[in-house]
Amino acid sequence: MKAYFNPSLHQERITYMKMLVYMFLLPLFTAAMNLDLQNYHHHAVLDPQGKYNIYWMHKENIITFLVQVETLGYVGLGFSPNGAMASSDIVIGGVAKSKPYFQDYFTDDNRVLHKDPQQSYKLEYAMENGTHTTVKFSRPLQTCDPHDKNITESTVRVIWAYHANDIEATGPIYHGLNRGQKSLRLLNPERKNYISDETPSFNFTNQQVPIPDKDTTYWCQMFKMPTLDKKHHIIKVEPLIQKGHESVVHHILLYECDREAGDTVLEYGHECYHSNMPDIFLTCETVLYAWAIGGEGFTYPPHVGLSIGTTTDPTYVLMEVHYDNPFQQEGLIDSSGIKLYYTPHIRKYDAGVLEAGIWVSLYHMIPPGMPAFSSEGHCTMECLEEALSHEQPDGIHVLAVLLHSHQAGQVLRARHFRKGEEQKLLAYDNEFDFNFQEFQYLEEERTILPGDHLITECQYNTKGRSTMTWGGLSTRDEMCLSYLMYYPRINLARCESIPDIKEQLQFIGVKEIYKPVTSWPFIIKSPKRYNNLSFTEAMNVYQWSKKKGNSFNEHVKQIPINIRCSKHESREWSVQGMLLTPPEVKTYTSEVPECASFFSVSSSAVSSTVRYVLIVLSTVIHYTF
Ligand SMILES: *[C@@H]1O[C@H](CO)[C@@H](O)[C@H](O)[C@H]1NC(C)=O
Ligand SMILES: *[C@@H]1O[C@H](CO)[C@@H](O)[C@H](O)[C@H]1NC(C)=O
Ligand SMILES: *[C@@H]1O[C@H](CO)[C@@H](O)[C@H](O)[C@H]1NC(C)=O
Ligand SMILES: *[C@@H]1O[C@H](CO)[C@@H](O)[C@H](O)[C@H]1NC(C)=O
Repeated sequence: MKAYFNPSLHQERITYMKMLVYMFLLPLFTAAMNLDLQNYHHHAVLDPQGKYNIYWMHKENIITFLVQVETLGYVGLGFSPNGAMASSDIVIGGVAKSKPYFQDYFTDDNRVLHKDPQQSYKLEYAMENGTHTTVKFSRPLQTCDPHDKNITESTVRVIWAYHANDIEATGPIYHGLNRGQKSLRLLNPERKNYISDETPSFNFTNQQVPIPDKDTTYWCQMFKMPTLDKKHHIIKVEPLIQKGHESVVHHILLYECDREAGDTVLEYGHECYHSNMPDIFLTCETVLYAWAIGGEGFTYPPHVGLSIGTTTDPTYVLMEVHYDNPFQQEGLIDSSGIKLYYTPHIRKYDAGVLEAGIWVSLYHMIPPGMPAFSSEGHCTMECLEEALSHEQPDGIHVLAVLLHSHQAGQVLRARHFRKGEEQKLLAYDNEFDFNFQEFQYLEEERTILPGDHLITECQYNTKGRSTMTWGGLSTRDEMCLSYLMYYPRINLARCESIPDIKEQLQFIGVKEIYKPVTSWPFIIKSPKRYNNLSFTEAMNVYQWSKKKGNSFNEHVKQIPINIRCSKHESREWSVQGMLLTPPEVKTYTSEVPECASFFSVSSSAVSSTVRYVLIVLSTVIHYTF
């Protein structure tokens, strides 16, 4: 075993320590390392074989990583704009010929690796045993170096690589296939696992569903909640994804259905939204739980749970699994689903989920060739006023948000307004990754009051597309939703909006449509250039340019919107169907965090491990000599 520390910390001791480390410290050191791992709040395995592990934690503006890889060569970790190697912020370290090495690098647009003139990362130690290399380092979240990537609450594409050999004088040798990327949210608040191993659970899983060889399939299966003699709380939900289907199962939604459903519909699953889907499926409207690709399980905080077992709780639920099969693979059979943990020790509050954003519809339109087209879905003050003053005048408390869009989504935000003034963002992701969507726990719960207003904002990139993108269910279509997990549960399922279609079509010059409407999408009568075209065809006939797309974007943001404000079990609040003008709002400008170069940072933020190990070492040194 070899163990080394940053030489600058204690250079004079290094030679005799080497002997000591070999002779005495193995057990002590291992103990210290194990202790240390417990202190990291987060852990992720980056490669499929489980050879590359990272542990991390952040405290104030310092983030500390411990990277442990099954190699005796170099290890590299980086932050990339898109998951590829170009234009990334990278560190490489290891132990070679008994000496630790570590450098801050960056890659240019051509993937050429350069030493960063400003070294923003600090090595705390590097060590290797007979099989693994471990490197611990820290850095400020915002550095003042343009070659570093700032670490924020947004999704981060972490890239990783390693090699069997150490770095050479000319730099690292190419890592070949030992590399990859994974999206993570590094600044997630720490979540304790409140669940004991004995917590009872049940599963809802699909039964050998043959996944059709087509791009998009929504599969629906109804389940009955367990029959319980009294109120219980579901306190954790976990995905059960069939091995090998991690990229096929795109999202899972659990809806509450009409309690009159009856057991006969439980026997078979069915393609959702298909014309011969059982009608009863359409009664399942209220979202109880949402999971999307890349996400982990959801643990409710200790004061909240999802109620089951009382007469007002869900009896029948519908699980909707979205299968994404872009290569139209044949013969895939899937039995994925979810696992729900529940307890008779009921918690103080019942959880609910509110779906806010854009009403999923063909009326949600995004022109082609746009690098940044921004759509806004309003959960209006009229809807929140009516529903909340009826149900919970003191407001509801949001504890987590799942931002949801499809493949063109790139920046998503859940904005919150009170009396026209914007509050701090509820949630945001400036680097949305379609393949990584999960509930983000809020750092602090947020109260939503009657008369507040929410905007879900989605910025799309359609540069590579030559035709319109529509709101819809396929991942090539778009959505713009935020699922708000909140308590106490109220009778408000969806709070959404869609821009008025007539005003949208006026932009391309549509004058008149055929009435009565007998076909969908409806047909245009005049002007002549659009005659007998459906409105979707007409939108595609229009000669879009970036400039026109931008003016369309401005137009759509200020035209009247149709309101959706629905209760559970297919009922509506009275404001549903109203046509309203989007409110004037005052934009919140957040303070830009100050950047820091490492050496201006107080040492108290640096983890105590190094000091702990050093104390152990010096004690032994003192004792022995
Ligand atoms: C080296 O450390 C790793 C990680 O703690 C451990 O899994 C592995 O067994 C160790 N190898 C040896 C030879 O001690
Ligand atoms: C990182 O954040 C700091 C402080 O907010 C800012 O000054 C700097 O320009 C940012 N760096 C990059 C590369 O975006
Ligand atoms: C639920 O699924 C897990 C994982 O597939 C399995 O181990 C467990 O036995 C299942 N539990 C029940 C009650 O079916
Ligand atoms: C549009 O459709 C109507 C009814 O099918 C037909 O009478 C008319 O000639 C069509 N107009 C054009 C321009 O194709």
